[in-house]
Amino acid sequence: DWSMKAFREEAVERIRAQVGTGRVICGLSGGVDSAVAAVLLHEAIGSQLTCVFVDHGLMRAGEAEEVVSLFRHAYNIPLVHVRAEETFLGALAGVTDPEVKRKTIGKLFIDVFEEEARKVGGADFLAQGTLYPDVIESVSFTGGPSVTIKSHHNVGGLPERMNMRLVEPLRELFKDEVRALGRELGLPEAFVGRHPFPGPGLAIRCPGEITPEKLDILRKADAIYLEEIRRAGLYDDIWQAFAVLLPVRTVGVMGDGRTYEHVCALRAVTSVDGMTADFYPFDMKFLARVATRIINEVKGINRVTYDVTSKPPGTIEWE
Ligand code: XMP
Repeated sequence: DWSMKAFREEAVERIRAQVGTGRVICGLSGGVDSAVAAVLLHEAIGSQLTCVFVDHGLMRAGEAEEVVSLFRHAYNIPLVHVRAEETFLGALAGVTDPEVKRKTIGKLFIDVFEEEARKVGGADFLAQGTLYPDVIESVSFTGGPSVTIKSHHNVGGLPERMNMRLVEPLRELFKDEVRALGRELGLPEAFVGRHPFPGPGLAIRCPGEITPEKLDILRKADAIYLEEIRRAGLYDDIWQAFAVLLPVRTVGVMGDGRTYEHVCALRAVTSVDGMTADFYPFDMKFLARVATRIINEVKGINRVTYDVTSKPPGTIEWE
């Protein structure tokens, strides 16, 4: 892609001009955006960059390991992997309000990140994988000026607290362009093509109280759903697909026994930039297959529903 080749060269020059001989710290979220930003920065400034991955224990099955091995082994980019699961789950215990969840995670993330940044000797710049739609959506929403729909999880507030300047090399790009840039930088296709995953992770896919047991149930259901989507060859046609574990239990029957377990909702949408979205029109046979597998294989779920809400009026995530 010639345009991404040109963008890459320009972006590298711009980063070098902005940063000079300064030190840069970059927070990895596990998502495509921060990964592309980090690889681009590494190309521009090499060892002036330190990457920090704060693992909040709210990732999907196998996700944290994937990010760590991509950076350490495939790219040989030094990475600080902070295991903060207990800290985050401890702070979230008993929290049910979606905005309180988001703010708790956002604040803790800053605390943990700040502490790690201090340990590596601080930095002059903070790098973020902010995209163009993030810039817009955090300013306003189609509903009118300055209505906060959700507090997006990023490292907002950090630059001032840590006396750092921001480096945001992807600020002009849309998601499809970031993916093209990722390919241009040699990131594996399976990583570049990944569905977006929100900063607060599974916390916002587990309405109501978050417990390690619920997260475990959710991870299993989500993995089965995505496995079936890949097997059916639908992964790349979908913008985002995930399971949500509802804080509701319903009565069911299995064998000759009564069950009383959680409901799992499945979500899948198509979108170009996440700002509007349509629910994905799965074939009923596909949904039936996924539901059967989840109920048979995941202890703790006895009912599966499919979310047919588009955005607006729904948002993509449930919280
Ligand atoms: P909503 O749910 O607002 O989500 O329709 C739009 C897109 O943004 C993702 N999302 C987030 N991404 N931090 C992120 O990095 C967040 O706090 C966050 N909340 C939602 C969501 O997954 C969808 O792709």
